[in-house]
Amino acid sequence: MPSRLFSPLKIRGIEFKNRIFMPPMDMFCAEDGMFSDWHFVHYGTRAVGGAALIIQEATAVSPEGRISPGDLGIWSDKHAKAFKRITDFVKGKGVVPGIQLAHAGRKASVAIPWKDGDRPLAQQEGAWETLGPSPVPFGPNFPVPKEMTKQDIDGVVSQFAAAAKRSVSVGYDVAELHMAHGYLCHQFLSPLANQRTDEYGGSFDNRIRMPLAVAQAVRDVWPGHLPVFVRVSATDWVEGGWDLQQTIAFARRLKSMGIDLIDCSTGGAVPDAKIPAGPGFQTPFAAAVRNEVKIPTAAVGFITEPFQAEQIIANGQADAVLLGRELLRNPYWPLQAARALKFDVPWPSQYLRGKL
Ligand SMILES: Cc1cc2nc3c(=O)[nH]c(=O)nc-3n(C[C@H](O)[C@H](O)[C@H](O)COP(=O)(O)O)c2cc1C
Repeated sequence: MPSRLFSPLKIRGIEFKNRIFMPPMDMFCAEDGMFSDWHFVHYGTRAVGGAALIIQEATAVSPEGRISPGDLGIWSDKHAKAFKRITDFVKGKGVVPGIQLAHAGRKASVAIPWKDGDRPLAQQEGAWETLGPSPVPFGPNFPVPKEMTKQDIDGVVSQFAAAAKRSVSVGYDVAELHMAHGYLCHQFLSPLANQRTDEYGGSFDNRIRMPLAVAQAVRDVWPGHLPVFVRVSATDWVEGGWDLQQTIAFARRLKSMGIDLIDCSTGGAVPDAKIPAGPGFQTPFAAAVRNEVKIPTAAVGFITEPFQAEQIIANGQADAVLLGRELLRNPYWPLQAARALKFDVPWPSQYLRGKL
């Protein structure tokens, strides 16, 4: 039986050489949003390691949309130009470069997590005013976000569209819209963060209005032959929050506007949710969305073993798997998984002077 994990996947005009994707992982080490040598080596190594798609970490559409001062940004042409170095390299390795476009909303303005832990910045550390659907803070020590006006919402939608245009101009082939983990778009979706009484809050149709506007604006400027993905948190893991049924209904609407794949993560809306994390714990969400909506999905979360990944694809639970921390531990996981599954994938020619 040939490996399904190593079978190609075609979406619009893009062919992914296998089903192993690298999910966005924020390195929190950019200065003023700019791409650095660290980023080049980090993403370049995973491209050499054999993943089919590399989704660059949360890249902010505006300075205030950064989670921390260390986030990458694409709010100017200067920022965009610096990314061309990595998109060229990644493409040269037969790998698809993707970018996650993001706005952190009320979860913005926090310290660099690997330096100082996840905590809001103090004024003297350069804290900035955060935005949100409602003046409801994320957690006890977090600042109250500014309740966004209609004009603010339109402004953020335009920032996503401008960021998408810049991304495509420097060679990204996949845009992933960050609508998960309690960041701005997810804040509009979830009743735990969105307490508005205007056309952007209350009913399901109202809560999805802003995220749908973002999806539409990006789809409108993203070329027709290139895919747009949306990352969702399929559940808040909290009674009365966003849940799988709403995710399925939302995915139907995204599909009808030309979104190509739903990347199914969970959680992040509130700090105190009880999340039953464990091997493959989010995969059933990818399976449910795929089977109900008939849209391609990607599964993520504690996927670490070649046979586990193979089974997810072979069983039709998802069209691709995203390996986060496992690719941090081992960038060559895809090449090694191919061996374990007895599938012949060539190692980089530069390494073949001796037998590997
Ligand atoms: C260092 C680190 C940074 C992350 N940054 C992001 C991010 O920028 N955007 C995002 O959607 N998820 C982010 N995540 C979540 C991962 O994309 C992934 O969903 C999560 O790690 C679960 O997958 P895993 O069990 O394979 O690691 C991050 C995870 C890690 C470990």
